[in-house]
Order: sequence, then C-alpha cells, then structure tokens
Amino acid sequence: MSLFRTKDIDAMLVNSHVGGLKKVLGPVDLVLMGIGAIIGTGIFVLTGTGALTAGPALTISFVIAAMACGFAALCYAEFASAIPVSGSIYTYSYATLGEIIAWMIGWDLLLEYGLATSAVSVGWSGYFQSLAAGFGLHLPTALTAAPGAVPGVQTLFNLPAFLIMLITTWVVSCGVRESARLNNVMVAIKIAVVVLFIAVGVWHVKPANWQPFAPFGVSGIFNAAALVFFAFIGFDAVTSAAEEVRNPRRDLPVGIIGSLTVCTVLYVIVAAIMTGVVPFAKFAGVDHPVSLVLQYAGQNWVAGFVDLGAIVGMTTVILVMTFGQTRVIFAMSRDGLLPAKLSSVHPVHATPFFATWTVGIVFAMIAAFVPLNVLAELINIGTLSAFTLISIAVLVLRRTRPELQRAFRCPGVPVVPLLSVGFCLFLMAHLQALTWIAFLTWLAIGLSVYFLYARRNAVLHGAAGSTRDHL
Ligand code: ALA
Repeated sequence: MSLFRTKDIDAMLVNSHVGGLKKVLGPVDLVLMGIGAIIGTGIFVLTGTGALTAGPALTISFVIAAMACGFAALCYAEFASAIPVSGSIYTYSYATLGEIIAWMIGWDLLLEYGLATSAVSVGWSGYFQSLAAGFGLHLPTALTAAPGAVPGVQTLFNLPAFLIMLITTWVVSCGVRESARLNNVMVAIKIAVVVLFIAVGVWHVKPANWQPFAPFGVSGIFNAAALVFFAFIGFDAVTSAAEEVRNPRRDLPVGIIGSLTVCTVLYVIVAAIMTGVVPFAKFAGVDHPVSLVLQYAGQNWVAGFVDLGAIVGMTTVILVMTFGQTRVIFAMSRDGLLPAKLSSVHPVHATPFFATWTVGIVFAMIAAFVPLNVLAELINIGTLSAFTLISIAVLVLRRTRPELQRAFRCPGVPVVPLLSVGFCLFLMAHLQALTWIAFLTWLAIGLSVYFLYARRNAVLHGAAGSTRDHL
C-alpha cells in the first residue's frame, strides 16, 4: 500500500511558502509565459506537414487538437488553483493518486519537457542556419546537424542547437525575474510576427485553394490533429511556476486558459491563410512553410521578418520548457525522490542552479546528437498520457478532498474530465507502434529507478502519520 502513499495537501501548501523561491510573477507574465511555451516549432515547421495530411481542413485539425488541450487545461486549472505549488501535474498526482503514479508522471514530464527543449532547439537551428545563409554565412557541414539527420550527408554534431540550449540554460539559471522579462519581450516579437503574417497574408488568399476542403477525408483530419497537437504543448509549463506567482489561485487559471485561447485563435487563422494562399500540395518537403507562403505571395521582405520571428519564437519555447523541467526536478528532489542536490537553491539567484545546469547540459547533448523526427512523436505521447492522468486526478480529488478550497472549478465534472481522457486516448491511438515501444521502455526504466532509489529515499518513507494511504 505504501506505493500509493499520498502527500498531505495542507502541509504542502504551508511548505510552499518557505521553499525559498521568489514570488514575482503576475497574470500577464503567466499568459505570456504560456504563449512563450506554446507558439513555436508546431506552427512554424509542422503546419506544412499538417496541410499535406489534412488539406485546407487543417483548420479543423487545429480545432480538434485545441479541444483536447482545452478540456485538459480546465482540469489543470482546477489543480493549479487548489494546489499552487511547484512541480505541476507531478505534485498534484502525489497529493491524489499516490507516490508511484506521481513518480511515473514526474519521470514522464522529464522526458516531455527535456525532449521538447531538444526538439525545438533542432528546429531553431534549421531556421538560424537558413537566415545565416541569407547573409552568406555557412557552418562546416559536419556541425550543421546530428549524425544521420540528413540522408547522404555526413553530419556529426548540431552546433547551433547545442549552443542555444546552453544560452537558455544560462538565462534560466540566472533568475526567474530576468528570464520572465526576457521572455515577455521575445513573446511580444513572436506575436507581432504572427499578426504581421496574418495582416499581409490575408490579402493574398484565393478561396479556390480551399477546394476541395478535406481531400483526405476524416482520417486525414484526425491524423493531422495528432501531429499538430505538438503546436499546443507547453501551456502546462505555466503551472510549474506556481510557487513563484504572487496570487496563484487566481492567476494560474488565467495563465493557462488565456494562453491556450490566444494561441488557438492565431493557429486557426494562420492555417486558413496558409492553405488559402498556397495550394496545399506545394508544402511537400518545405522546412519553412510560413515564410514560403509569403514568398509565394511575393512578399519577400515580410518573409525575412517571419524567419527572424520564428527564431525568436522558438527561443521562448526552449526557455519556458527548460524552466518547467527544472521546477519539476526541484519538486521531485525536495520530496526525496531525486538526490537532494537537485533542489538546492542558489544563494544569489534564488534558482535551482545545479538542477538547471544538469538538465541543460544533458538535453543540449541530445539536441546535438539526435535528429528531430526521432524526438517529436515521443513528446506527443508523453504529453497526452500526462493530460489523461491529470483529468483522472481531478475526479479523484473531488471524491477524496471535496472540501478543499478551489479558486477555479473545472466546469461540467465528470463530463469534461472524461472528454479530456477520451480525446487524449483517441489522439494517442494515432501515434506509431515504435513510439509506444520507446515510451514504455522509458517508463520501465523509471519504475526500476523508483524501486532501487526513489521509494527508499522519499521524504514520506518512514514518516508515518503524515501519509494517507488510499486506493
Ligand atoms: N508547442 C511548442 C511548439 O510548437 C512545443 O514548438
């Protein structure tokens, strides 16, 4: 039964006030932080593939993926407002579903956030090199990509991806206020570039390009939805900042739902314009679909701005994901499930400095050596399984702690959490068998670490009286 021991929510709330992290973030910071994590490789790179899969009905795919995220976001928001402490879904499940499930979720989040930083760094590197090439600057071929990333070309190491990971690690390790400030500026640039794309692109739409609307039928729409789901990943990173928020019960739901809403509206408009300007079949083999649209419309100077905005946009994704990951590690370490050193707080910067640099270096190496396609699907399956669990956890917490104060209550319980579970499982069913195998392997390694290390070292271990077994 001790596998399912739970943390005492009230004690967690008290402890979060003495955790040592500075409370400096407000609602605008959080919405921008959410947008910072959401708009990136998904819209700038994957929309081309999405258009090839669904045709102009890509707009519907975006709406389906947004609905899956929206239902999960309502569940997240309830948890974030009830248990506003660091560690996101990991922490919530420790309070509700029990230690072993919390461990597995935390382990899963390390994969999701970590690989997402690596994957987006690889996308960043592609855009960066293309922009540099415009100025006649080229890296030695061996340093342009991971081994095996480009068929027939001998590449060894993705130097730009490695460097951008180290730079963002440095920024995050230097302090949350500084990174939130930098993030806000970069998010503003990113939104401006997307709005510029819309404002210029809309005049070049030819409605004839929207016919036929769904050339690959319903299955094409669903397959594209499973793919572009990636474009929404990141809003959950907002919750990982809970202990650094001034008024978490009010601001966290605002941050989650606000950022998701803004991004959904932008994505649907961008997808409609892209498929309205360029016949969708022309996206085959294109790495920069958004700027291609502008070039196609003869707006080359705007295309250059969009390239630059994409680089800035992807930088913010890496920044927020790095931030989210270090806070999950911080929380797991504080609970004794990971070595204590990982939750040490820097005396000057008041950040988990050691944890930040540890994961920064590990995932910089992954970005340098692993191709993008290997990383992408794993991230989706990790995230979808996390969303499924958080939705179940809302139902569990309503039964086990009905009296707990919730500034935000998920509407339509149990229908909304169950819809969230249904949508997520449906999208997971559209992922490849190989992705499932890799994911289950990662979880098996996680279980071994749990039984060999984490279980015995947990703060709850031997702390009889402060635990409540259930299930
Ligand atoms: N949603 C993030 C992106 O599109 C992960 O890059």
